[in-house]
Amino acid sequence: MIRIAAAGDIHFDRQSHNRLGQHMDDIAEKADIFLLAGDLTQTGHPEEMQILANDLKKSPIPVIAVLGNHDYHVDQVSSVTQILKDAGVTVLERTSTILTIKGETIGIAGAKGFCGGFIGASGSDFGEPEMKSFMRHSRSEARQLEQVIKDLDTDYKIVLLHYSPTTQTLSGEKKEVYPFLGCYYLAEAVDYGKADIVFHGHAHGGIEKGNTPGGTPVRNVAQPVIRHAFNIYTLERKLNPTFPQ
Ligand SMILES: [Fe+2]
Ligand SMILES: [Fe+2]
Repeated sequence: MIRIAAAGDIHFDRQSHNRLGQHMDDIAEKADIFLLAGDLTQTGHPEEMQILANDLKKSPIPVIAVLGNHDYHVDQVSSVTQILKDAGVTVLERTSTILTIKGETIGIAGAKGFCGGFIGASGSDFGEPEMKSFMRHSRSEARQLEQVIKDLDTDYKIVLLHYSPTTQTLSGEKKEVYPFLGCYYLAEAVDYGKADIVFHGHAHGGIEKGNTPGGTPVRNVAQPVIRHAFNIYTLERKLNPTFPQ
């Protein structure tokens, strides 16, 4: 059984010292890996990320992260990524990592993803160059992620995103903002790539549990949704063909 600790939208700022660090002492008793689904900082300032890195450095289990839109805000992406890497965190952006845990291989494909909307209420690759560029960016991110997922040949395939692949976990958010909370291209990537489960954040006002149109379980782990430092999920297909309920 693989135990996954997951959280998103922790939004560290300059006052967040030890907010996660206090949970690192016993995290290994609860989980085998720790996933962070973006919006790790409030504005993407290196000082904010360093405060988080000081906490993550203490993690006794592998930490895997994607960035969120907030982490891009002050245009210091390479710097904040390096700060995480220096703390031992694996940062994914349309890339993957493979871990072996208790004799089973876990492939984690990660990407921030992007917005665009969902079937029947999405942008389209039509009209002004700005709109074409917006939707082409969204589709390109998803298509690259799909290939990364397909390339994984592991016992489990986990997808880690910031933006949502489904409207199901957005329930509670205003419908008008759904196109800015995720995109159906991401669900296509997940389903065509045959992922086992997806974690995302970004939808602070959404709900935890949903599925892609293809039936892949989706968990919105935005901290305002899960209301804990992190939630624990288990994958145990080889023992029992069920996933977190
Ligand atoms: Fe957020
Ligand atoms: Fe976000």
